[in-house]
Amino acid sequence: MQRNIYRDNNKENKQNHIYESQFVKDLFDKMSASYSKMNYITSFGFSERWRRQCVEALSIQQGETIVDLMTGMGECWRYILKEERSIEQLIALDFSGEMIKRAHHKKTAYPDQGIEILKENVFKNSIPDHCADGVCSGFGLKTFNEDQLKALAKEIERILKPNGRFSLIDVSVPSNTLLKTLYMLYLKKSIPLLGKLFLGNPETYKMLGVYTEIYQNSKQVKHIFENQGFQVEYVNYFFGCATGIKGRKL
Ligand SMILES: C[S@@+](CC[C@H](N)C(=O)[O-])C[C@H]1O[C@@H](n2cnc3c(N)ncnc32)[C@H](O)[C@@H]1O
Repeated sequence: MQRNIYRDNNKENKQNHIYESQFVKDLFDKMSASYSKMNYITSFGFSERWRRQCVEALSIQQGETIVDLMTGMGECWRYILKEERSIEQLIALDFSGEMIKRAHHKKTAYPDQGIEILKENVFKNSIPDHCADGVCSGFGLKTFNEDQLKALAKEIERILKPNGRFSLIDVSVPSNTLLKTLYMLYLKKSIPLLGKLFLGNPETYKMLGVYTEIYQNSKQVKHIFENQGFQVEYVNYFFGCATGIKGRKL
């Protein structure tokens, strides 16, 4: 028993570096050129649908201020910025220079929308207190460890107005044994191979499987957000291949 605990701690220590900001930033800088394609492939083409569902769960209203954390190159924007209901402002944050460069390019497609792009670490950001009606994040949770998820919950609580809503999603390990076996085989074996084709570097894409396997699903995130005082609902997307939470600040 004692030995198992030691082995687990040892494994955890060895993996600590994968949650360091510089490591994650470098990873996404390297992946930025092929990220959109690979994200689509890794989710069997479901990523767009899941993003849309995640943003729709926010029920965005005309004139609201929305914050998109870990925005990447603005993959969620098309669901936030709708012609039929203009929002007051979209604040989009990410710390990867390469992802942000592409987000700036995407911004040119929305000349009439108030989009503020912040190249900042979410744990040291300049977003004002209580400014947002809604906070969303697409696939930005799995690269955080437990302490960072707790810090994220605090940040979202600081940023949101009273009664403000949030909706967060990430890729997960489904609980169905067959689906789980197939999905993890796909993430751990096929994706690095595809990464090699696109990037010549299977190691980078191997990390998606590594993070997902540790993340498992959003149950821990739900618990953390409840402890932070939010009203939280757990959301399963396609048999748990992605999971998330949505809710409001009380
Ligand atoms: C998997 S991508 C998600 C991009 C996009 N939201 C989407 O829907 O595809 C995760 C993003 O989170 C960003 N990220 C990770 N940790 C961060 C942190 N501490 N602060 C800011 N951005 C971070 C990465 O740079 C990366 O662009």
